Amino acid sequence: MAKTRTQFICQNCGTVHTRWAGKCDACGEWNTLIEEGTSGGIGSGPAAMRSARKGRPVTLTTLSGEIEDAPRIASGIGELDRATGGGFVRGSALLVGGDPGIGKSTLLTQAAAALAGKGHRIVYVSGEEAVAQIRLRAQRLGVADSAVELAAETNVEDILATIAEGKRPDLVILDSIQTLWTDMAESAPGTVTQVRSSAQALIRYAKSTGAAIVLVGHVTKEGQIAGPRVVEHMVDGVLYFEGEGGHHYRILRTVKNRFGPTDEIGVFEMSDKGLREVSNPSELFLGERHAKSPGAAVFAGMEGTRPVLVEIQALVAPSPLGTPRRAVVGWDSPRLAMVLAVLEAHCGVRFATHDVYLNVAGGYRISEPAADLAVAAALVSSLTGLALPADCVYFGEISLSGAIRPVAHAQQRLKEAEKLGFGEAVLPKGSEEISGGIGSRAFQPATLTDLVVRIAGSLRRNADD
Ligand code: TYD
Ligand code: MG
Repeated sequence: MAKTRTQFICQNCGTVHTRWAGKCDACGEWNTLIEEGTSGGIGSGPAAMRSARKGRPVTLTTLSGEIEDAPRIASGIGELDRATGGGFVRGSALLVGGDPGIGKSTLLTQAAAALAGKGHRIVYVSGEEAVAQIRLRAQRLGVADSAVELAAETNVEDILATIAEGKRPDLVILDSIQTLWTDMAESAPGTVTQVRSSAQALIRYAKSTGAAIVLVGHVTKEGQIAGPRVVEHMVDGVLYFEGEGGHHYRILRTVKNRFGPTDEIGVFEMSDKGLREVSNPSELFLGERHAKSPGAAVFAGMEGTRPVLVEIQALVAPSPLGTPRRAVVGWDSPRLAMVLAVLEAHCGVRFATHDVYLNVAGGYRISEPAADLAVAAALVSSLTGLALPADCVYFGEISLSGAIRPVAHAQQRLKEAEKLGFGEAVLPKGSEEISGGIGSRAFQPATLTDLVVRIAGSLRRNADD
């Protein structure tokens, strides 16, 4: 018999180490290595399967063939369906991750009730809350009388036996994956091994029966509980539910989707009666605008197929420090460093003795390079103390040479801006054909210097008045 060895598994990324260390070499996280028996390690199967077993041939099939009709079940909650790419896919597994308390259980309770209302069989299994607590939440959400089937259970085998009874469920929600444990693995609940084995069993169930499953996973910074990252590659879709402390709105972001686009977001607002859909996010992000102050520029961005307007705020202040501060919220800090360098090198705008703070309003997060131009405009505006025109939107990518490069969907961005009452736009030259009122008044600089000159020029115009 093989000697039992112990091994250490990173609870963040699942890498197996032979000896303990403070830091995981693979993912760089600290204090995430936990001792687990080899018998339950990653890569090993259930105990019964490890003994040499003769393979059983499976039937090979073709790409064409029968597909169950209506492969998706749409919840009718527009923002959720948008993020999932049109509804939950039968036979697939979806991971919904997010910080504790962000509203994952609330969202899924609402989705469950909406689907049950359409006649689907929905099972909600909670490993975190007692039935009474879930009922209380359902009452608060006004869905207490919906036909969702409820259980408080954490053992995977028991859960599978329970849902195997009666009609096959259309959707099974497991809240949360970290509380589940299976007899197949020997480690404690919440460890990587348990989380993976449990997820594996449930995914196998989904694939073999055609039921859709949703796994809820908490993201913890400490890495004490196995992060949902270890199951990300096993599931068909990953949605992250995000929000900033102090703000009421939540963003459901598609990180992975085997059956649809990955750049969609769904926007919700948390109210005392649960999550409310926000179908026009631009109005939300521009809601608290003080248009007249220097350092603010409105960026016309895209999230998947939808344009989103958001305010970018910059504060450039003289620094008492030898190495001035650069702080960014909602954007990439290397990208800010790049825009600052281009402004210094090509436009003669100096930030070396100034602290620079950049914030994307409302706690929103931008990942598009198209925001470069709006960021540059906000920075120059703050440094010079000149407010930008209140009804102007900006978009365009800045290259290291100082040239402004075209970005996709110019027409759609302009249309959204026009709809929200903006009358001016600054955008790259040579983007697609632009038309319409705002398009004809657009300023299209070829280089960043042209934009700086235009902003500085407004000082001269003001002085002339
Ligand atoms: P919850 O869905 O339990 O979060 P998670 O499952 O992600 O841990 O939501 C918890 C928070 O949401 C809690 O702080 C209270 C708030 N909340 C509301 O503001 N309104 C509501 O109607 C509900 C049900 C929750
Ligand atoms: Mg919860």
